[in-house]
Parts: sequence; structure tokens; C-alpha cells
Amino acid sequence: MNEVKEDIFFITGNSSKYNEIQQLFKQETINYNLIQKDLKTIEIQAESIKSVAEFKINSVKDKLICSAFVEDAGFFVDNPLNGFPGVYSSYVMKTIGNKGILNLIENFEDSRAHFSAAIALYFKPLHKIFFFEGTVEGKVSNLQKGNHGFGFDPIFIPDEIPTKTFAELTTTQKNSISHRGKAWLKLIDFLRKN
Ligand code: IMP
Repeated sequence: MNEVKEDIFFITGNSSKYNEIQQLFKQETINYNLIQKDLKTIEIQAESIKSVAEFKINSVKDKLICSAFVEDAGFFVDNPLNGFPGVYSSYVMKTIGNKGILNLIENFEDSRAHFSAAIALYFKPLHKIFFFEGTVEGKVSNLQKGNHGFGFDPIFIPDEIPTKTFAELTTTQKNSISHRGKAWLKLIDFLRKN
């Protein structure tokens, strides 16, 4: 007997993010239909991406007719920028962009950087919010390379594939090691068990 699938909303206006998650979702047999919703959420400037995601989901959860999640991510240049742009990633991308970040770095060989993602899920059956996080470590490329992906992908070289930037990987390759892919696996595991 076929069970009726429930809807789950991914609340985002970012189609690149949605496409990555949608690709991951297609690989799973799970009892949900994934639907993109570009709802207006409240975005605060907080000290962690988890707090930003928590605030966003709280700002819409009372209007939701089904379970839904938001995802917030940040790019952190740990060496030499002590984690900048981090929670300011969106603003920095809009202002100085990748070129501006590269101009702040002299020694690329010693650079260290990571992406982090936080998913905040409003799980309707329990009326509760759950968090799923993921991180990927790497360094900064001295040149922008590749034309896949989005945002800071052309300047991030993951430790797992040290010859390529994220923007030189296919979506499937990026998903298999990325911050978003790791957070997503935790979400899927939760949805399977609950
Ligand atoms: P937000 O999660 O949409 O607020 O993302 C903050 C900033 O980080 C935006 O400028 C995004 O373009 C960038 N960003 C988020 N996720 C990724 C990613 O997977 N790769 C590259 N840049 C990203």
C-alpha cells in the first residue's frame, strides 16, 4: 500500500541552495514532498548562524501548515582573518565579494577556511524546533576558479579534494563533502526516525 506523502517546506529565496538540497532529496526514499517556499522571514544579525536560523524559523512557524526548515550558512576564513566574514558573509558577498576577500590575504598556502551550515526545522507533529549542523574544512584559493555553485565557492578548496575549488565540482561532488550536505544527512536521519 502506498502511503500518502507529507509536504515539507524549504523556506528560501536562494535557488542555488534549493537545487543542492533538491538533488540530495531525490537520492532518498523518504515519505515527504520537498517544496520551495520563498516566505518572508526576519533575518537578524546574530553571533552564530544557528541563532540566525532559529530566529528565522521562529518568525514564520505560527503561519505554517506543515513542517518546514530554513538553512543558514557562513564562510569563515580562520587564517588569516580570524573567522571573517562568518555571520557577515551575506553582506560581504554583496559588498566586496570574492575579489575583496582575496585582496585581504597574502599567504594562501597557510590559509585555513571553513563553511558551516545550520538547518532549523519546525517539526509540526511535535510543535518543536530541531537543529542540524554541518561543517567543511579547507583553504582559500589564490584565484577564483570554476563556474558551478554560488557565493564563495570559487575561492574555497576543500581538504577532501585539494586540487579543486567548490565551484569546480559538480553539485553531487560538492554535496558529498559540503557543510550543507552534512547538515542535510542529519535532517534526513531525523525525518526517517520521527
Ligand atoms: P545565507 O545562508 O544565504 O545567509 O548565506 C550567507 C552568504 O554565504 C551568502 O552570500 C551566500 O552566497 C554564501 N554561501 C552560503 N552557502 C554557500 C555555499 O555553499 N557556497 C558558497 N557560498 C555560500
